[in-house]
This record gives sequence, structure tokens and C-alpha cells, in this order.
Amino acid sequence: MMDKTVVRELFRNKEKYVDQEVAINGWIRTNRAQKSFGFLNVNDGTFFENIQIVYAEAQLANFKDVQKYGVGAAVSAVGRLVATGKAAQPIEIQATHLELIGACPENFPIQPKRHTREFLRDVAHLRPRTNLFSAVFRVRSLVAHAIHSFFQEQHFVYVHTPIITASDGEGAGEMFNVTTPGKEAFFGQPVNLTVTGQLQGEAFAMAFHNIYTFGPTFRAEHSHTTRHAAEFWMIEPEIAFADLAANMALAEDMVKYIIDYLFKHAPEEMAFFNQWVDETHTLIERLTLVKDSQFKRLPYTEAIELLLEAVAAGKQFENNVEWGIDLATEHERYLTDDHFKAPIFVTDYPKDIKAFYMRLNDDGKTVAAMDMLVPGIGELIGGSQREERLDVLEQRMDDIGVPKDELDWYLDLRRYGGVKHAGFGLGFERMIMYVTGVENIRDVIPFPRTPNNAKF
Ligand code: 4AD
Ligand code: MG
Repeated sequence: MMDKTVVRELFRNKEKYVDQEVAINGWIRTNRAQKSFGFLNVNDGTFFENIQIVYAEAQLANFKDVQKYGVGAAVSAVGRLVATGKAAQPIEIQATHLELIGACPENFPIQPKRHTREFLRDVAHLRPRTNLFSAVFRVRSLVAHAIHSFFQEQHFVYVHTPIITASDGEGAGEMFNVTTPGKEAFFGQPVNLTVTGQLQGEAFAMAFHNIYTFGPTFRAEHSHTTRHAAEFWMIEPEIAFADLAANMALAEDMVKYIIDYLFKHAPEEMAFFNQWVDETHTLIERLTLVKDSQFKRLPYTEAIELLLEAVAAGKQFENNVEWGIDLATEHERYLTDDHFKAPIFVTDYPKDIKAFYMRLNDDGKTVAAMDMLVPGIGELIGGSQREERLDVLEQRMDDIGVPKDELDWYLDLRRYGGVKHAGFGLGFERMIMYVTGVENIRDVIPFPRTPNNAKF
């Protein structure tokens, strides 16, 4: 018997295999049994599309058994690959041998019909076997690869920053403490799961020039939104000898690179999202536009003016608009979804609503911050130029009560060969939501962790 191949290879290199004997392993998505023949749709996980396997009584001694193979069962098939001439299903296998590898009874929860996302979250261990989650999680894998490629091609060094840390890098106090029950503090001091790798990333940028992190991040935020998870992944590049403008250019290039990569490497998945997930079927059109356009840069103060104009024209917001507020999701969505209908950078936020490490602007009121906001999601990226001036940074830490002794090592980065530098954090899951059109963060994480939810 010939070696097994994979369905991706059969679809991508049809010419090589048509009229040849091929062998595959996979799971049955549907089984349509007729009197003397039948069709299995089998997915082997290597490709978004199923392969159709035609089975006939005349060919198979176990025909009667095959007719009863259940949805979800694992099978092994051998047969001739045939070109059908149909665009929707260009190839099929005419089976000469079909074998049950793992049976699947009728109570298998994933049946060939539309299940709600809520139901599928309850069977998160089985949902990768649906079309939607097959597409989402392959795209998740591809986006991770695209991000590494993007940075590696430009010789950024990938840094593994610690997951257990003593610092609250964002100063927002949303940390999970790490303890060993019944023992003295293991690390001799209180520690928590990281909320950001940025501060350690900055240390490496002062040695390697350009670095990025890509790792899990934990925040005990009690926001029950569709965009927050307690455990998520973040990508944090940090660039030395660089300012906010360079930082934004990098973020913009990265987003475009990812979109381009998906168009090239996941056309089937992207077509599926466009057709079945995006309500207006314009996902591909919108992402194409994003890829080919220049993102607007909008200072916070101008953003507030735009929002005030909208209020004056009758737009109702739940949250009051005035200079100094942190933009609420409804404000961000107004800017991206209604006004610009495109991704934008909002820059130079008031210092009082941003983290201690952001560089103070000459006005003394705002900092060199940037958030990339995108339609449908809101904040995709948050970043800034960092305060490289030791005295200004120390003053700022004193003013807002960030403990300088604990972060003395961070201040060293300003004492010893400090240079201007900048960086940002991309919420990995938000990026997946943005490129797939999937609206809930719990549906782009294999086994999501959110308040009251850590099953699996
Ligand atoms: O804006 P944030 O808090 O920025 C930082 O952590 C900086 N240290 C980044 C840096 O400059 N190096 O978080 C960055 C991004 C957000 O824009 C958002 O996309 C995502 O991380 N994010 C979350 N994603 C999912 N669930 C949560 N609870 C998130 N909190 C932030
Ligand atoms: Mg932010």
C-alpha cells in the first residue's frame, strides 16, 4: 500500500495526483449513504476543505459497514483520485479500501448542522472539528507565524520575558498573584503573572536595538466584554533610537503584512469568513482597503473635538465627552466605524490616563502615546515613546506613586547608555478577531479564560 498523503497536498498539487492511487486518514464530516454507493466527506485537518470519498458496493467488501460509519468517526481510505471538473469540488477519491479507525456514536455533539457559538464553547474540546473553528485556529497559527516572519525578516531579536514577575508593568493593579499554599513566599517577595513584557523588553532593546516579545499575558480585569480575556497573548516590539512616528510606522507595516500573509496563505479560510462570519460579506474588501491605504494619525485633542462635534450634531454617547477622559469603546467605535471607516492612530493622550513610562510631551499635559483603533474592535494596539529622561521619569513615578526602589533596574536603563526608544503591544486575539470577523474573544482562543470560566 502506498504512503499516506494529506488532503492539503491533494488540493494544492492536484495535477500530480489525479488518476493515481492515494491514501488518506481523517474524520468523517458527513456520510450520505445511498442504496449501492455513498459519499463520505472527510476532513483530515491539514486543509480547510473536506475531500469527498465515493464508496460503492461493487468495490468494497465492507460496504454495508461503511454505510453506517458515523459522523465524527476516524477513517483510513485508499482509492483513485479523480478530477470531477466541478469548481466547488474539483477532486474526489473513488475508494478501493475504507477502514474504520475510531468509531463515533450518534451522540457525538458536533453534527453537520449549524451550532450556536455558545453551545460550541461548552464543547471547546470538540469545536476544532467544525468549519468555523478549523478556520479560526489555522488562521491563528498562520498569524503567529506571520508576526515572527515580519520581525525576523527585519532582524528583530525575539525575547522571552518572564511570566512570573514582581512588577506591575502597567501600574493598573490587575494582577493574578502567584503563591505556594502553606509555604513562605517562594520567591522571597510577592509575585504575580505578567501583565506585560515591556519593561524587560526595554532592557533588551538597549542591547539588541530592535526586539519583540510574543507570549502569554494575564490580567484580572473584571470587564465582561467580548474583547477582554484573563489570559491572552501579546506581541511587544521595542525599538531603540526611535520615536513615536517610527513606532506607528512599524505597527502599520505589521498589520498590513499580516493581512497580506493571510490572503496568500489562507485563501479558503478568508473566503469562508467573508461568506459565513461577516454579516455584510465585505471582510476581504475591507481588509484589502486597509492593506492598501495609509492609516490616519489623529491627536487625542482632535479626536475629542470630533466627538464633541458629533454630540453637537445629535449623536448620543453613554459616557460624557470632554478633554481628559479615557476614550470609551463607544467613542473609539464612533471614530473608526462611523467617522473614518478605517483604522486610525490616536496619539498624544493626556498623561493622567496613561502609564508612567510614556514620554512627556513639551506641553506638559500629554504623553507620546499611540493607540491603533480598528473598526469593529476598538483598540488593537497600544504603545508609546518611552520616557528616556531619568529626572522626568523619576518625577512622574513619584507623582503617581510607582515604587522607584522596585524598579531601580528599570531606571538603570536610563542611567547607562539610555537612548530614546519606543514600542507597542499588539493584542494577538484582537488581531485574530479583526482579520476573521469573529466578534467574541472567547471564539478565537482554543481554551479561553474569562471571569467564572476556566473549564478545560
Ligand atoms: O494597551 P496595553 O495595556 O499596553 C501594554 O501592555 C503596553 N505594555 C504595550 C507596550 O507598549 N509594549 O495592551 C496592549 C494590547 C491592547 O491594545 C489590546 O489589544 C490587548 O493588548 N489587550 C487585551 N487583549 C485581550 N484581553 C485583555 N484583557 C487585554 N488587555 C489588553
Ligand atoms: Mg491600552
